[in-house]
Amino acid sequence: MKTLLKGGRVINPATNLDAVMDVLIEDNLVAAIETNIPAAQADEVLELSAGYWVVPGLVDVHVHFRDPGNPDKETTLTGAAAAVAGGFTTVCVMPNTSPVIDSTPMVQYLFNAALPTGIQIFPIAAVTRGLEGEEMTPIGTLLQNGAVGFSDDGRPVASANMMRKALEYSKMFDVPIVCHAEDCTLCGNGVMHEGYYSTLLGLPGIPSVAESVMVARDIELARFTGGRVHFAHISSKESVALIRKAKAEGLNITAETTPHYLALTDACCQGYDPDFKMNGPLRAETDRQALIAAIEDGTIDVIATDHAPHTPDEKSMAFDCAPNGVVGLETSLGVMLTHFYHANRLQPLDIIRLMSSRPAEIFKLKASGNLAVGQRADVTVIDPELEWKVNPAQFKSKSRNTPFKGQTLKGKAIYTFANGRCLFQQAEAAGKALASKA
Ligand code: DOR
Repeated sequence: MKTLLKGGRVINPATNLDAVMDVLIEDNLVAAIETNIPAAQADEVLELSAGYWVVPGLVDVHVHFRDPGNPDKETTLTGAAAAVAGGFTTVCVMPNTSPVIDSTPMVQYLFNAALPTGIQIFPIAAVTRGLEGEEMTPIGTLLQNGAVGFSDDGRPVASANMMRKALEYSKMFDVPIVCHAEDCTLCGNGVMHEGYYSTLLGLPGIPSVAESVMVARDIELARFTGGRVHFAHISSKESVALIRKAKAEGLNITAETTPHYLALTDACCQGYDPDFKMNGPLRAETDRQALIAAIEDGTIDVIATDHAPHTPDEKSMAFDCAPNGVVGLETSLGVMLTHFYHANRLQPLDIIRLMSSRPAEIFKLKASGNLAVGQRADVTVIDPELEWKVNPAQFKSKSRNTPFKGQTLKGKAIYTFANGRCLFQQAEAAGKALASKA
């Protein structure tokens, strides 16, 4: 089977390519990227133009699919459907499931669950058994079985000594420990960012220092051990400053932030709507501006969603009782294009680097993040001009808890190919239909 994507703007940060080209997919591989591939060579043709971007499938290294344990919130199948609808063909799932992903059978379970989805799903396994912080998981064995990183995400590794050991051990395999940066003693019973709005709303706050104190600790542990730390969902300006300085010193660290921290602030909590509640919390406008600057100067390497589904019942509780987390796979690209491409802050190559090639590089996902001849055909076609209103009722995810509901975004994935198969086609893209020549 040969599919020709004709005349789109091919954007591949891994090879610094940004040019109008044709892409030929043959079975599950990219067979050719050239300026003029005759339509006669293909079984089906998608006629594009320079206004459409053809990019490596997007990569999200931080999602929660709740499998096993909470199929009411999400399953591997519904999570994967949300992923392809958002343009993603590779995701890394976090281990805070029930049971926790902390053993070889659990890692194997996830690979089996991923098989029918058609996309690439990699486990980030737990650093400690049961996320309890007491006993380190068998990192080497879990790695051999396909884990691509380690984290107690959802919880911090509270013991500096445990983090030290995990970094020393993981260093042998050059694999990142993903730091959920939070000092729980400083968070107390906080439910939102500690600042003007928490005072106004009468809600207990989580100070920024609860995050940055942990970032500082793990930078020092990275320095001491030579291990690799990847900072998850960074939300505060203080953390940004620490990461920028540590990178300038040449330390082996990387960092991600999420679209919601880049687009929203704690002012959004004024309606007491739990769809604006997540951990770390939405912070102040000065934090948001610092994160934007960190994206622009490369301090932050990766956009990840922290896609954290919760049921409508859970999210209809009072703000202080509802669980933390928001879904993000179906809005991530739209938010990034609206706030960075259409705001003239980043070039398409930069956005695709943040959302595909760089995360694949950090987690050594060799079959992801590179649209090149001979590679697995994970390819996303984006219409950067498509305006659409976020309607949670139309989500492929099982959950609806998005802080972007009702917003109009500009830019969307319209076709997502994984391993050469078209797994998602946007309804509004009917004018750009895959024409079978048979
Ligand atoms: O808001 C969050 N929700 N932050 C996390 O770190 C975990 C996540 C979840 O699992 O719901």
